[in-house]
Amino acid sequence: MASPGNTIDEQALIDAAKEIRLHGHAPYSGYQVGAALLDENGRVHSGCNVENAAFPESICAEANAIGSMVSAGGKKIVAIAAVGGKEEIEACTPCGGCRQKILEFADGDTRVLLIGDDGGIESHTIEELLPASFRLT
Ligand code: THU
Repeated sequence: MASPGNTIDEQALIDAAKEIRLHGHAPYSGYQVGAALLDENGRVHSGCNVENAAFPESICAEANAIGSMVSAGGKKIVAIAAVGGKEEIEACTPCGGCRQKILEFADGDTRVLLIGDDGGIESHTIEELLPASFRLT
């Protein structure tokens, strides 16, 4: 995996997201999602979605990956990837709420990796995905 200053190993992040996606708890939507992120120390943190019978209590995969990073002392998302789908891997772009959560730990260099239907990888900044965003700082 990449260390700070090195090229991001995008495929390794996607593979980590695919792996944890298999643990996604999605009995209501049937849509399992996995997310993996690289922090400023070169560590990878991942999470899957965890749904709940009280639907708003469900947690997105990106939120769990971010919680894992923060719990481990990470401060910055260098890059984050999410994969989802009901059967095969499909394109899965972070929902609006997760974009706001990513923003909290992002800067202009943070890469949000979008996986295309064809398996291709698109790399975006959070500014591209969440323009005119709400910030307190
Ligand atoms: N989901 C995520 O985990 N991340 C996203 O960015 C989009 C949606 C989950 C929530 C729910 O468990 C399922 O996908 C279907 O919406």
